[in-house]
Amino acid sequence: MAAHATTRGVLADEHAEKRAEIIDLLTQAYWMELETVLNYLACSINPDGVRAQEIRESLAEDVEEELGHARQFGERIKELYGIVPGSLEFHAEQATLQPPESQIDLAHVIEGVIAAETGAIEHYNRIIEATDGVDWVTQDMVIAILHDEQRHRRLFEGYLREFAS
Ligand SMILES: [Fe+2]
Ligand SMILES: [Fe+2]
Repeated sequence: MAAHATTRGVLADEHAEKRAEIIDLLTQAYWMELETVLNYLACSINPDGVRAQEIRESLAEDVEEELGHARQFGERIKELYGIVPGSLEFHAEQATLQPPESQIDLAHVIEGVIAAETGAIEHYNRIIEATDGVDWVTQDMVIAILHDEQRHRRLFEGYLREFAS
């Protein structure tokens, strides 16, 4: 804890409980980003076929961006006096982003990406709501990250239109 607590905002003593809640939400976001990094990395390597190249390159770029998000979540956890966890606390959840049976099944990959981005969008909206009026800094950071995820989701919805047709 801070040696000299502030009297206003998320670092104030009166918001200790709220701060713990925000750290939990940020920790969940941190894991979501890292699981996305794992799966986007695999999906940037596995797909075969003429049409796979665009998707692979796009996901290879996203790996860097999602890792950057994980880093931001981790830094914010620390600033709020939380501890960034180690890998033994990790629980995988992204069932839809597992490699398809066929490595030319790009629709499966694209739908998995859209599901991951949708999950992130929902969770980040939750953080924006939970921080409202208390932790503007976290809220501001998560709004910017939410914008990135909405952009990712829209891009892959565009890909799906092509691959589903
Ligand atoms: Fe992200
Ligand atoms: Fe994303």
